[in-house]
Amino acid sequence: MNNGTVRSPRAIYPGSFDPPTNGHLDVIVRASKIFSELIVAVVVNPQKREPMFGLDDRKEMIRACVAHLPNVRVEHFRGLLADFVQEKHADVIIKGLRVVSDFESEMSTALMNRSLSDVDTMFLMSDGKYSFVSSSIVKEVFFLGGDVGALVPDGVMKFMSRRRETLRSSTT
Ligand code: PNS
Repeated sequence: MNNGTVRSPRAIYPGSFDPPTNGHLDVIVRASKIFSELIVAVVVNPQKREPMFGLDDRKEMIRACVAHLPNVRVEHFRGLLADFVQEKHADVIIKGLRVVSDFESEMSTALMNRSLSDVDTMFLMSDGKYSFVSSSIVKEVFFLGGDVGALVPDGVMKFMSRRRETLRSSTT
């Protein structure tokens, strides 16, 4: 938290990024225009299920997507986001909202994070054209043979194709 000292605001955008989508990238670009420093924080162990990509791959995919944004860096954290936010002396947590229903769970998470770290969460809306895009839906459609090329950055598409080949060859 900024305790009265004037310095440029630092934001943290946390997530699983398994994989990063164009919706994530849209939020990153928007946040990078508002804040002097943006840390994209990749959670080591996503809560939902076993990730499709390991931590290094998820970080590498994001790094490739943000290479043109000099005030954005990619890090990782384990444990509580609130602890990471304090450790990094961040001023704000960024979360993306796609649809109104996202706000339901995000509101309690934001309040919990604020009670733990005294850091506020700011919500940015991704472009409406990404309102249906999530990492899980992208993975499901991709593995069932659907075209998700318009929903993820080109570099991510290459990682996904490679990962699918690895998974296929390990099951045959
Ligand atoms: O991309 P995701 O999976 O929606 O990101 C969820 C994430 C990583 C932001 C969330 O699970 C998280 O903050 N995990 C860290 C553990 C934590 O602090 N939990 C308490 C939140 S109230």
